[in-house]
Amino acid sequence: MSAPAPDGRITRGTTGLNRLRRSDRWSVHDPAVRRAIAAPSALAVDVGYGARPDTTLEWAARLRTVNPGLRVVGLEIDPARVVPGRDGVEFARGGFELAGLRPHLVRAFNVLRQYDEAEVAGAWTTVTERLAPGGVFVEGTCDELGRRCCWLTLDVAGPRTLTLAWHPGFTGRPSDLAERLPKALIHHNVPGERIHALLTLADRCWDHAAGYAPYGNRVRWRAAAAVLAVETGGAARAPRRPVRDNLLTVDWGFVAP
Ligand SMILES: C[S@@+](CC[C@H](N)C(=O)[O-])C[C@H]1O[C@@H](n2cnc3c(N)ncnc32)[C@H](O)[C@@H]1O
Repeated sequence: MSAPAPDGRITRGTTGLNRLRRSDRWSVHDPAVRRAIAAPSALAVDVGYGARPDTTLEWAARLRTVNPGLRVVGLEIDPARVVPGRDGVEFARGGFELAGLRPHLVRAFNVLRQYDEAEVAGAWTTVTERLAPGGVFVEGTCDELGRRCCWLTLDVAGPRTLTLAWHPGFTGRPSDLAERLPKALIHHNVPGERIHALLTLADRCWDHAAGYAPYGNRVRWRAAAAVLAVETGGAARAPRRPVRDNLLTVDWGFVAP
């Protein structure tokens, strides 16, 4: 049987060493991701790794701290960007159809941002319909150096969560993340929309926690996030464990357009 035609189109291949580290760090702690890749035969697929395969190789190394036997495949729709396998990671031509694979974890970072918003739902469905049972899709966007990063998790039922992650030293207020929201949300950060209300509330909690500023932005965010969790009835939450990044996860229903 011949491989399915790659679904999608070639876009700019911009990438950067370690640019997806915040999402990688989060992934190895997230219970849904850990469960998805726990099986001995688990498969993880990175869709659209760009002009160089660095972020796929980094992802593989981090995910293999959870499952050392994890099979990892990087897919690129541009045939000129497909490279030989390395470090136990395979690379192949493919798109949202996942080259006929049935992965437990799929990631697509900085891919859909170059598509139209109207194309997002179809791409999500194409990917999530091909997930193995219990599979997770992580779809996100970040800045050039990966200091500000936002991603959604989805499963076969649709979007589940939005996570915002930022370097505590390089971001003034939570709403600074707005420019890196996933395609499904970035055009909705306007008054009257839920994502705008969340970022406005997060900024207010940040202001409220100003007394913690002398202890640094990490401590200040922890205090702000505790207030935000109460204000949102638990829909928005930050990890309790000590973390390097400032993180906020919110249920999709709380921000969906
Ligand atoms: C901006 S780069 C992102 C590289 C890397 N994921 C990162 O975040 O650093 C986007 C890449 O996705 C590829 N791409 C776009 N649509 C795709 C699709 N449907 N399937 C596979 N690759 C795709 C483009 O060819 C491009 O190389």
